[in-house]
Amino acid sequence: MGVARKRLGVLTGGGDCPGLNAVIRAVVKSALRDGWDVYGFEDSTDGLLRGGRHRELVDADVSGILDRGGTILGTSNSSNPFAFPERDAAGRRRTTDRSAEVIETAHALQLDALIAIGGDGTQSMSHRFFQRGLPMIGVPKTIDNDIAATDLSFGYNTAVDVATDALDRLHSTAEAHRRIMILEVMGRHAGWIALSAGIAGGADVILIPEIPYRIESVVAKIEQRTHAGKRFSLIVVAEGAYPVGGRVVTQDHGDSRGVRLGGIGHVLRRQLQGHVDAETRVTVLGHLQRGGSPSSFDRVLATRFGAAAAGLATQNRFGRMVALKGDRIVDVPFAEAVGRPKRVAVDGELVRTARSTGVNFGD
Ligand code: F6P
Repeated sequence: MGVARKRLGVLTGGGDCPGLNAVIRAVVKSALRDGWDVYGFEDSTDGLLRGGRHRELVDADVSGILDRGGTILGTSNSSNPFAFPERDAAGRRRTTDRSAEVIETAHALQLDALIAIGGDGTQSMSHRFFQRGLPMIGVPKTIDNDIAATDLSFGYNTAVDVATDALDRLHSTAEAHRRIMILEVMGRHAGWIALSAGIAGGADVILIPEIPYRIESVVAKIEQRTHAGKRFSLIVVAEGAYPVGGRVVTQDHGDSRGVRLGGIGHVLRRQLQGHVDAETRVTVLGHLQRGGSPSSFDRVLATRFGAAAAGLATQNRFGRMVALKGDRIVDVPFAEAVGRPKRVAVDGELVRTARSTGVNFGD
């Protein structure tokens, strides 16, 4: 009688980002070579709830997806099974704990390993399932680059490329019309995208959540440029940036997710009004940073993460997240990986480099 093949599950959780498919592809290809049967769960852990959906993944399913944006498995950033959003009989929103259903499904399907690709929320959830006995392995993803245990998460490089391209394009139109162009980028409460794209795109002002800004400082920078004969300015502002003594700007999209960060670009334009002569225009880059094909850097990182995660499963090493440290792929316990957002060091080398080339941080 043959030995039963081991069963590996894979899912993508949280907001999507470029490179998810590249990870799925690497997980499936490496795991199949190691003798696993692989199952993909749809829409994050929703695929493991009662009535959830999963399908077997074979080589043909992951062929040709390396460069594809999104995720072939679907994802969700509003369905934490420990606090699952529902409506009661009166239509009021409430949350229920449906984590037991996920555990039940994993046992019923006899999963020997479950790889969850996601950001901080997904890793925290995986940690809790691991503590309840599921053989979890994590792969860090986020365009925000705010997961502490890894030097970089895949998706970030692509988002920076998109934001840099936007700045390059805004540069020429700003110059033609002698305008001030404000570009609002994503990043939640971390300024990584704004900082890197700002440096790469030659922004004159970079506003990040880690350095609350004073509008007087931004105005002074623009005036200084005007006196130097430069009659346009480029400002990149992170969605989580806020003025000294002020607070982050949010928007209510009227869905179960409640308020989301966004809108600081327009607030900034109003703050500048009356203090600068040049016309000011705002571009909010939004989800363009999340969609589309991953950069070659992210394809490589995603592939390395996926193969390493499958390797952990084969070695029966659970409760761990793969990570990049320097130029090496390592793995760290979930406990080290979650709940410690990585933010820009205000006196770190990147900020100092930007300052040394004349960038204003609004302080
Ligand atoms: O965490 C990734 C991210 O794109 C953040 O940069 C942004 O604040 C948020 O997700 C947007 O979420 P949603 O897709 O729910 O609007």
